[in-house]
Amino acid sequence: MKNQLNKLVTQKKARVGVIGLGYVGLPLLVEFAANGFKGTGFEVDHNKAKRINAGESYIGDVPSSRVKELVNTQQLKATTDFSHLADCDAIIICVPTPLRKTKEPDVSYILAAAEEIKLRLRTGQLIILESTTYPGTTDEVLLPMFEETGLRLDQDFLLAFSPERVDPGNPQFLTNNIPKVVGGVTADSTEVAAHLYSQIVNDVHAVSSARVAEAAKLLENTFRAVNIGMANEMARLCYALNIDTWEVIRAAATKPFGFMPFYPGPGIGGHCIPLDPHYLSWKARQHGFDSRFISLAEEVNSRMPEHVVQLVSDGLNDECKPMKNSRVLLLGVAYKKDIDDVRESPALSIIDRLRAKGAHVRYHDPFIKELRFDDAHTEASGEPLQSVPLTDEELSGTDCLVIVTDHSQIDYKRVCSLTPLIVDTRNALNGELRRSSFARIIRL
Ligand SMILES: NC(=O)c1ccc[n+]([C@@H]2O[C@H](COP(=O)([O-])OP(=O)(O)OC[C@H]3O[C@@H](n4cnc5c(N)ncnc54)[C@H](O)[C@@H]3O)[C@@H](O)[C@H]2O)c1
Repeated sequence: MKNQLNKLVTQKKARVGVIGLGYVGLPLLVEFAANGFKGTGFEVDHNKAKRINAGESYIGDVPSSRVKELVNTQQLKATTDFSHLADCDAIIICVPTPLRKTKEPDVSYILAAAEEIKLRLRTGQLIILESTTYPGTTDEVLLPMFEETGLRLDQDFLLAFSPERVDPGNPQFLTNNIPKVVGGVTADSTEVAAHLYSQIVNDVHAVSSARVAEAAKLLENTFRAVNIGMANEMARLCYALNIDTWEVIRAAATKPFGFMPFYPGPGIGGHCIPLDPHYLSWKARQHGFDSRFISLAEEVNSRMPEHVVQLVSDGLNDECKPMKNSRVLLLGVAYKKDIDDVRESPALSIIDRLRAKGAHVRYHDPFIKELRFDDAHTEASGEPLQSVPLTDEELSGTDCLVIVTDHSQIDYKRVCSLTPLIVDTRNALNGELRRSSFARIIRL
């Protein structure tokens, strides 16, 4: 079975199915299709499937022209009909892995996708899980499900885990030049999965098990959460000591070894860094282990929106203005620059807190036309907001402008020349801008 699948892959005759066409699944499917594999995307969202089949991309890093060309040449299609899973030789699961309200892993999307596979599992298929999850999911959850069909691992099917490392909005690193870690439940599974990915990725790193691959992904994201937590703590410490945090980090980063710069910010957002470490700490707790770094990082990072609101309040106070009824304009609400994703964005919590103190909050974000609190996966709530144009009147009529996301296309010079008070949480305003600014600037 291994040799047969390897041959299909080498000849690019393996048909690739991707379940879940979001930020991870769509670029992956497009990459396989562009490299000569027939690709089918499986979605529960009819609208997404329809848009793909019409040659329209809804993911910023995937140009519609690329999708259109692959759809027109019949290399790629999307469907909501899961019966076509039976036609695929390799099936890759890229569905969401959120947290429950209790901050416990919610693997229900993985289970739903696996259930669809199980109904059609046949001899000769390779199944790969890409969704970020706790170590053991592939062996302990997926394998028993698939074995219930009576089919046997290695003889009939193969099973592996390969974490996704996509970095939305980063034009330097795309699917093909981000090294890929692959760990199979068996050696055969590792071998074939690594062979498949090597068709679209320059550098594939095989590991000894699915658990190692699952844990490696969580280490990467926990490493970021912890180090950002350290940078955020340093920022608050420097604020208290009246030292320029950014200058401190810049100076430390001149050390050519043993230091890696991380930067403070208004809090962490997105579908990965705020959530993934909980998958690791949950699994650790099952084994009686308390992962203290993860809890501490979460505590520090989740307090950043509160600190930002304190900076706004301090800034207004210096001008003898109360927070109540003040006009506050957020510049950027996406969770990071140059992308259109607000999931877990700290902007939501900042708005919630500002509103609770009676401020009139508006926002401008070239990527986010409307901000609905119910779509954003946060505890914040309230009336939806619409992005307002960045007119001269808007800028000069605001009491305080808060740079939450440092989108590249904003004319910061103009912003500095019209606004009276700016809280810059991203160090978006460089030294020269700050020196020549009409606005009073408070930085993290
Ligand atoms: N977004 C990132 O930057 C990123 C980076 C690395 C890893 N990841 C991980 O990759 C996984 C997917 O994340 P994403 O950002 O692509 O999520 P997403 O929400 O953008 O996309 C998931 C897609 O899956 C679809 N879906 C849900 N259940 C389904 C089912 N049963 N069958 C078919 N489709 C289904 C949804 O409609 C959605 O389109 C998560 O585990 C995430 O942690 C994400």
